[in-house]
Amino acid sequence: MAKVAVIPGDGIGIEVVREAVKVCEAAAEATGFSLELEHFDYGAQKYLDTGITLPDEDLEHLKGYDAIFVGALGDPRIPDMTHARDILLGMRFKLDLYVNHRPIRLLDERFCPLKDKSPSDVDLVMFRENTEGAYVGMGGIFKKGTPDEIAIQEDVNTRKGVERILRHAFEFARANGRRKVTMADKSNAMRFGHDVWLRTFEELGEEYPEVEREHQYVDALAMLLVRHPERFDVVVACNLFGDILTDLGAALQGGLGLSASANLHPGAHALFEPVHGSAPDIAGQDRANPLGAVLTAQMMLEHLGAGDAAGLIGRAVTAAIQEGAVTVDLGGSLGTEAAGDDLVARIRAAARG
Ligand code: NAD
Ligand code: IPM
Ligand code: MN
Repeated sequence: MAKVAVIPGDGIGIEVVREAVKVCEAAAEATGFSLELEHFDYGAQKYLDTGITLPDEDLEHLKGYDAIFVGALGDPRIPDMTHARDILLGMRFKLDLYVNHRPIRLLDERFCPLKDKSPSDVDLVMFRENTEGAYVGMGGIFKKGTPDEIAIQEDVNTRKGVERILRHAFEFARANGRRKVTMADKSNAMRFGHDVWLRTFEELGEEYPEVEREHQYVDALAMLLVRHPERFDVVVACNLFGDILTDLGAALQGGLGLSASANLHPGAHALFEPVHGSAPDIAGQDRANPLGAVLTAQMMLEHLGAGDAAGLIGRAVTAAIQEGAVTVDLGGSLGTEAAGDDLVARIRAAARG
């Protein structure tokens, strides 16, 4: 039996999680996998009503679940993102979820914005360091609001932090028959912080002779990902570059509505969330694509040892895409809820054989 804490969050997070949960439950039921989902209302509304974001004792409680499933956090009524920082970054940092695993896979060539690219050309995995870098929140503002204002935002790179995400990328490549690991850095300009990335990459790489290693400056990598996505297999980057590159990757596979992710401390905690945000521009309109959340649920089931249920979801998504049973961002005409219902029906039909 697996126990999952569900935090739908804000905006379309709530809408896509509703569908992903339906799909997940249908797949679990069809395969006899026992899954217990418990919902939590952390998010913008709770913060506005009570001032509560994610208290430490609640975080302690969340540690008791086998996985945490999150929609998205962000609300225009809270422009400084206090609640999202406390909840989302709070979980990433306090649970020490140092691996942000974001697969980039083109499921249908119609979705790729690039000319003449097929699914075999866009099939890579990005690993984003998830606990350090520019996200640590160290810094401050001096002489705020004056012409002499100084804003400092530290970029923290520890040997331990850099080494563990790089090792994860190499281990993943080795275990999954991926031939190459590309590291994105900016060691030409960031002579301290990214020098440690470059040196550690070269040192660790020696332990993985069967895996080709390549380092690219992040600006060149962004260009190459657009021109030649087929050159890449596993890409690893610091927190901020990983954030940017994974949205670029999302575009290569058909948009943010399709992108899935896992935030992991291997052997300890796991949090799953689609890559997209709360999309205030389309929230409440039944227009959000639930597939990113559904594919995230598939990753979660895989992680929980429910490979059969995950397989059912994968096949249902492939069939729905082939038949155009998708939302408007992918050229279909279904609403969020109808797209979720369609997947549930496919899963039940497949289970009936
Ligand atoms: P966003 O990902 O919410 O939206 C970017 C664009 O992509 C929008 O035009 C949106 O309509 C579209 N889009 C996103 N997901 C979609 C889906 N499932 N189906 C169809 N279209 C989709 O990014 P943003 O607008 O920069 O951010 C909105 C809020 O979400 C901000 O508060 C931001 O900080 C937050 N955010 C949260 C997370 C998270 O919780 N993991 C991730 C990214 C952004
Ligand atoms: C993501 C998001 C977050 C990030 C925001 C909401 C802080 O963009 O998960 O990619 O930058 O990590
Ligand atoms: Mn992002």
